[in-house]
Amino acid sequence: MADPWQDAMDHAVALARKAGTLVRDAVQNDMKVMLKSTSVDLVTQTDQKVEKLIIESVTKKFPTHCFIGEESVAAGEACVLTDSPTWIIDPVDGTTNFVHGYPFVAVCIGFAVNKQLEFGVVYSCIEDKMYTGRKGKGAFCNGEALQVSDQRDITQSIVASEFGSTRDPEVMDKVFSTMRKVLCLPVHGLRGAGSAAINMCHVAAGSVEAYYETGIHCWDFAASAVIVSEAGGVLMDVEGGPMDLMSRRVVAANCQVIAERIVKEIDAFQPTRDDAP
Ligand code: IPD
Repeated sequence: MADPWQDAMDHAVALARKAGTLVRDAVQNDMKVMLKSTSVDLVTQTDQKVEKLIIESVTKKFPTHCFIGEESVAAGEACVLTDSPTWIIDPVDGTTNFVHGYPFVAVCIGFAVNKQLEFGVVYSCIEDKMYTGRKGKGAFCNGEALQVSDQRDITQSIVASEFGSTRDPEVMDKVFSTMRKVLCLPVHGLRGAGSAAINMCHVAAGSVEAYYETGIHCWDFAASAVIVSEAGGVLMDVEGGPMDLMSRRVVAANCQVIAERIVKEIDAFQPTRDDAP
């Protein structure tokens, strides 16, 4: 049977590539940096321009589809996932990297129908790596099939995480205490690319065994979640239940054993959900 969402996915890949060119060009130029939720939550005109480009183009081609976009939500749009086909967009994941010219910056497009993720596109545009995942059809990077690492021993693993976009001392205590516990398991290393989506693509590609973070948003990990699961990985909540796209928390790992081992070390907390009224 023909794939009902192939056309949408092809469009997403083409748009991510086009958006990536815009982002790459903008890295070379001066940019105006603005602040969002905190003094370390940055946004630029490029974030806004790229999101506009994607939404306008998709609306023309698929007029009934819905959107959840990082910058639209920042501008006051609701962040509600319905059963309608919905494009979940992070125009520039790794905005801080982008501002500083640190080379991990991604255009992320996730797509959900009936609240289930159907495909994800993450274009790491400085590296020129196009990651894609289609439910039931595998995950790829520049056309090469992706497979998670087969490591089952956390002490032989690299784990990725981030410090996030808040500097609230109570939150930082939990972040550091978790990092300390994970490091002292011990693991081979703790890494952070500065982009949730790229960290998760590293899990899918097998160079990192696991990634966890609390405080991210649905647009940071919707697209890469499909890529991880299609590369054979697992996704869960930081307290061990199923991943909840609106919860702002995720563990992505190569296997169940490693995901559950990470969960044991996490000092969990619940930020305000993305779909909170
Ligand atoms: C951020 C990045 C970062 C993560 C933050 C995200 P943005 O996304 O993914 O790695 O630590 O939690 O908000 O703001 O650059 O799209």
